[in-house]
Amino acid sequence: MMPASIKCPKCLLSLFVILLSINSPGYGQSANLQNIYGRNHISLDGRWNYIIDPYETGYYDYRHIPFDQSESGSGGFYDDRKPKDKGDWVEYDFDLEPALSIPGDWNSQAEKLSFYEGTVWLRRKFNADPAGDKRYFLYFGAVNYEAHVYLNGKKLGIHKGGFTPFQFDVTGRLKKGENVVVVKADNTRHPDEIPTVNTDWWNYGGITRDVLLAEVPATYIEDYTIQLAKGNLNRIEGFVQLAGAGKVQTITVSIPEAHVKQTVTTDSAGKALLGFPVKNLNYWTPDNPKLYAVEITAGPDKVTDKIGFRTIETRGQDILLNGKSIFLRGIAMHDENPLIPGRLRGEADIRMMLQWVKELHGNYVRLAHYPHNELMLRLADEMGILVWAEVPVYWTISWLNPDTYLNAEKQLTDLINRDKNRASVIVWSVGNETPISDPRNIFMGKLAARAHLLDHTRLVSAALEIHRTGNNVVVDDPLGDQLDLVSFNEYAGWYWSSTKDMLNYRFDIKYNKPVVITEFGASALGGYHADSETRWSEEYQELLYKNQITMLTAISGLRGMTPWILVDFRSPRRQHPYFQDFWNRKGLISETGEKKKAFYILRSFYDDMQKKYK
Ligand code: GCU
Repeated sequence: MMPASIKCPKCLLSLFVILLSINSPGYGQSANLQNIYGRNHISLDGRWNYIIDPYETGYYDYRHIPFDQSESGSGGFYDDRKPKDKGDWVEYDFDLEPALSIPGDWNSQAEKLSFYEGTVWLRRKFNADPAGDKRYFLYFGAVNYEAHVYLNGKKLGIHKGGFTPFQFDVTGRLKKGENVVVVKADNTRHPDEIPTVNTDWWNYGGITRDVLLAEVPATYIEDYTIQLAKGNLNRIEGFVQLAGAGKVQTITVSIPEAHVKQTVTTDSAGKALLGFPVKNLNYWTPDNPKLYAVEITAGPDKVTDKIGFRTIETRGQDILLNGKSIFLRGIAMHDENPLIPGRLRGEADIRMMLQWVKELHGNYVRLAHYPHNELMLRLADEMGILVWAEVPVYWTISWLNPDTYLNAEKQLTDLINRDKNRASVIVWSVGNETPISDPRNIFMGKLAARAHLLDHTRLVSAALEIHRTGNNVVVDDPLGDQLDLVSFNEYAGWYWSSTKDMLNYRFDIKYNKPVVITEFGASALGGYHADSETRWSEEYQELLYKNQITMLTAISGLRGMTPWILVDFRSPRRQHPYFQDFWNRKGLISETGEKKKAFYILRSFYDDMQKKYK
């Protein structure tokens, strides 16, 4: 991948330009490359040696001064000098340490790390042969939660946020031959972070998604949006953004199968807007998930992507996909493989989860409660599954802390930038079950406005708060004014009541918008059978689903649901030693992959909805 060094004088010029840029302000973390997998890259996945560091000994000296802020900048566990240069008293040695498989959380790979919250250092050696006329980016799909990244003993930067990608410009910092990347990953929870300290999912730490080293020409395609215009099946709109040396370029966007070939010229900032008519497109739908090859060329750079074209809108209480009313036959899921507990590791894991959605006769999934793996969205595009994507603004966030808001906004922005060309994504969710207050309304309102601003072509929503007076369930959360869907979680028959008296609830919804229930459900231990009034039995969960469907279909604006949840998942909040054992048991599928009785109740309802919305 790394061609030999410079062979032409012209490249010397571009090398000079590149060298000038290395010390430019902001060197380090750079804007994420759109479609990183479509670039020339090598994978740095694989076995990374690791050091557990609960006291951050590898980061602070004994006076608690960070080594990387000391005069020498060395001395921490990232110091790649030879042992003889560091002194033989040094008390760590990556070469003698065990290894983790990356991508992969540490909790599921070492018993002593199962509940661990703190710092783990991870190190990978790799060979490179950088070319002088190229630029190089070190990309992380996600590190939970705070990552300090070092290359060849020098700090590249810091990233916070456990579920969104980030990258560093390492042009000029790669050595010919062996390089060493070290990551200090810290999954400690903090009240002012996003999410905050209290969540109902496992706090998997570490490098949980791919690590890549990408190579692009000195002038490269940094970002692009290519989508159908809002509500217009016959027009494609978007933009292409270049970066690097020669920003003014003639760009060609072609979609061969749609007989589209558009040429535009970027402005001095490297940006070109796109807008052109199309006809007779084969529109993307769950039943026909058509993806087109889209090619963008700009001078020496070329990127190809697979993009589906569809529109999504609401009209009154209807959700319109390509102008036709649909019902979202959904289910919620976490980013976790139940069979081999841990974050979903790659294509096989992800395909398994989406195949289960298909077996449920679903056409929709809520990727709770945080950005999932990019591959999840690309496979949803391929398999025809609509998606509700979400940022982990979950429960009791520090609404008054401006840094907390900026963190939430950055995670939302990075999610939208990463997945904005995925046809499967139809909803950006700005949060889940956040308690109503003025500071929360302001915080969430700004976030909803940000989502609309970044992407006016998709729907914006959140799992709203509801309140009950007797059997009357009121949905009048003020945040609903700024959202396109009325979505909320309700636990009639589980937390609120039992299956016996759940049919008395009535929903008083203050918005004339499509209603998409974001959660309902009951816990059942797979294989535990009793009568339908015995909690934790499959029969109880089965009857609850029957009653939920009866209760919810009385809502005139009901246009979808994502019951909680596809499969049992790990949670530190679920301690019942027999029924839970640190598993949340609301899955329709057990952690051994067994379908519970309620699975078939929901599937049968979805068969009815499929006929009704033909
Ligand atoms: C909440 C929450 C979920 C949680 C679920 C439960 O509504 O949104 O994250 O797992 O209830 O209690 O099982």
